[in-house]
Amino acid sequence: MGKIKKEVAAYFKAADPKELALAEQELIQEGIGREEMKRLCDVHLEVMKEQLGIKAKSIKLPASHPISILKDEHKIIKRNLKKLKTTLEKLKAAGSFERARRQINTLKELTHFFLETEKHHQREEEAIFPRLVAHGITEPPEIFKEDHIEFKAKKRNLNEIVMGAEKKDFKDFLDTISPIIEFLVKNLDEHIYKEDNILYPMALQTLEKNEWPDVRKKFDVIGYCCFAPSDVRKKRK
Ligand SMILES: [Fe+2]
Ligand SMILES: [Fe+2]
Repeated sequence: MGKIKKEVAAYFKAADPKELALAEQELIQEGIGREEMKRLCDVHLEVMKEQLGIKAKSIKLPASHPISILKDEHKIIKRNLKKLKTTLEKLKAAGSFERARRQINTLKELTHFFLETEKHHQREEEAIFPRLVAHGITEPPEIFKEDHIEFKAKKRNLNEIVMGAEKKDFKDFLDTISPIIEFLVKNLDEHIYKEDNILYPMALQTLEKNEWPDVRKKFDVIGYCCFAPSDVRKKRK
């Protein structure tokens, strides 16, 4: 068996999130392109879905923990992705701006929400990723960062189009927003899945216990998007 083949086999055997990250890194160093790696990662995820899900669910953390905060935000983001999808379907069925007024307003609220979630990605990038890198886990943060850049561009683009919606022809409007919404619904959902089931468990295994309070401090400095963590809400009252 060639060296890469052996590593691919090892990669598929690794159920442990940290081992998986190290196997990925080795493969990339051996010359597998990042695109190919991403594909491999998706195949692997498909195979491991159940096992990983059970493992990730068994991790119990207090609500004030940075990972709990991110996971709670994921739930809200996922809910709004579903809403985005149904809004697009309703828009298509409405057929004109006059009949789609309510849906256009919902769409405006949703695009605003998604721009606000930039803070979520910023917290991941600035408070957690550098610590993973410091522990020698360099590739996964790069892949997730690339996703963030892509999402940000799509979200900004969508917001611009939606804000100027009524100036366009209804059909043109639908044709421009549909692929963007479909992209976000599919890819952002997958991104979240990978974070909940691989990246976050990996971070929990990798960072030292005493690093988390500092991560949380950085979180508070950057700020929150869709909601404030419960302990922050209590302090405000
Ligand atoms: Fe992310
Ligand atoms: Fe995330």
